[in-house]
Amino acid sequence: MDSVIFSSSIQNDFVSFLSRQVYTQLGIIMDSNTEKYCYPLIAEKLPAHKHFAFEAGEVHKNLNTCTNIWQWMTDCGFDRKTLIINLGGGVTGDMGGFCASTYKRGIPFVNIPTTLLSQVDASVGGKLGIDFNGFKNHIGVFTDPIAVLISDEFLKTLPQAELRSGYAEVIKHGLIQHADYFSCMKSQDWENQDWKTIIEKSVSIKKEVVEKDPKESGLRKILNFGHTIGHAFESYYLDTARHLLHGEAIAIGMITEAFLSHKKSGLTVEELNQISEFLLEVYGRIDVPPADVTEIISLCSQDKKNDADRINFSLLRKIGQCDYNIICSLEDIEEAITYYRSL
Ligand SMILES: NC(=O)c1ccc[n+]([C@@H]2O[C@H](COP(=O)([O-])OP(=O)(O)OC[C@H]3O[C@@H](n4cnc5c(N)ncnc54)[C@H](O)[C@@H]3O)[C@@H](O)[C@H]2O)c1
Ligand SMILES: [Zn+2]
Repeated sequence: MDSVIFSSSIQNDFVSFLSRQVYTQLGIIMDSNTEKYCYPLIAEKLPAHKHFAFEAGEVHKNLNTCTNIWQWMTDCGFDRKTLIINLGGGVTGDMGGFCASTYKRGIPFVNIPTTLLSQVDASVGGKLGIDFNGFKNHIGVFTDPIAVLISDEFLKTLPQAELRSGYAEVIKHGLIQHADYFSCMKSQDWENQDWKTIIEKSVSIKKEVVEKDPKESGLRKILNFGHTIGHAFESYYLDTARHLLHGEAIAIGMITEAFLSHKKSGLTVEELNQISEFLLEVYGRIDVPPADVTEIISLCSQDKKNDADRINFSLLRKIGQCDYNIICSLEDIEEAITYYRSL
C-alpha cells in the first residue's frame, strides 16, 4: 500500500521527499489549470525536471492524451528509473498514473492530488485509467504510487463547485463508516471546514476499507454507496445543459439510496430524513422531469455487472454502517427517484 504524506507546507515537504528518492530524471504531469494554479506552489525549489501539461477536463482523459504523454516521455528519454509526479485532480492522477505504470512496463510515480475529490477518494486504492469510446474508466490498471502527498493549500484556488463536489465523498465516508463524523459535518457550515482534518479523516476511512479488500471482492463495495443511482444521473445529464459534477450526482444518489436503505436494509425513517435534509441543504434539489426517469432507471442496470432487472446496491443498515450485495428491482429504483422528486 502506498504511503500518504499529509503536508502543511507542500513546497518544503515535496523538496525534502524528493531528496530522499533515487531517480535518473524527474517528469511532472499536470493539466492546464493545475499548471497555472498549482505548479507555482511547488516549482520554485524543485530540482531539474521536465513537465507536460494537457488540456483540463474529463473529455481529455483518453487514449489520445495518453499517446501525447507517452510521446513526451519518449522524447525526454525517460528510463525505468525516471520518477513521474502527477500534479492535479483525479483526471491527472488516473491518467498520469496509467501512463507511468504502462510506460516501459511501469515506472515509479507520485501523486499530488489538488482537488478535494482526488485527495479524499482517488488518492487511495490504486485505481488508474482512462475513458474509452464513451465508457468511463474502461481501460486501466491497479497500481499504487510510491507516495501520495496531500496538502489543503491547493484548495484555495479550487472553484467552490468543485470543492462541494468533493465534499459529497466526505459525507459518504461518514454515512458508510462513521456516524460521529457525519454528525460533526451536520453541525457545521460546509464551506468553513477544517479541510486538513477532514482530508486526514476521510483518507483514513477509505484506506482502512481498501486495505481489507483491495480488489473489490467484498467490503470495498461499500464505497459505492450513492454511486449506482448517482452514476446514472451523472451519465444521463452528461452532455446536456443540466450537466452535474460527480459529487452533485452522488448527492442525489445518496438520497435515493438512503430511501432504498430505509426500504430494504433497516435505516430508520428519522435517519433517512436527517440524510435527505442535510444533502438538500448543501446541494439543493434538481428538477427531474418525469420524461427523464425511465432512461435514468435503465442506466442503473448498465452499471457494472448487474442483471437487467436485479440491481446490486450497497445500502445503509444505519448511519455509519453499510451492507453490500443487496438486490433491488427497477420498481424499487423508480420509487426512490419518486421520493427524491417529492422532497
Ligand atoms: N482512482 C480513483 O479511485 C478515483 C476515485 C474518484 C474519482 N476518480 C476520477 O477522478 C476524476 C474526477 O476528479 P476531479 O474532480 O479531481 O477532476 P479533475 O482532475 O478534472 O479536476 C476538476 C477541475 O479542477 C481543476 N483543478 C484541479 N486542481 C485545482 C486547483 N487546486 N485549483 C484550481 N483548479 C484546479 C482541474 O483542472 C479541473 O478543471 C474522474 O475522472 C474520476 O473518474 C478516480
Ligand atoms: Zn465517487
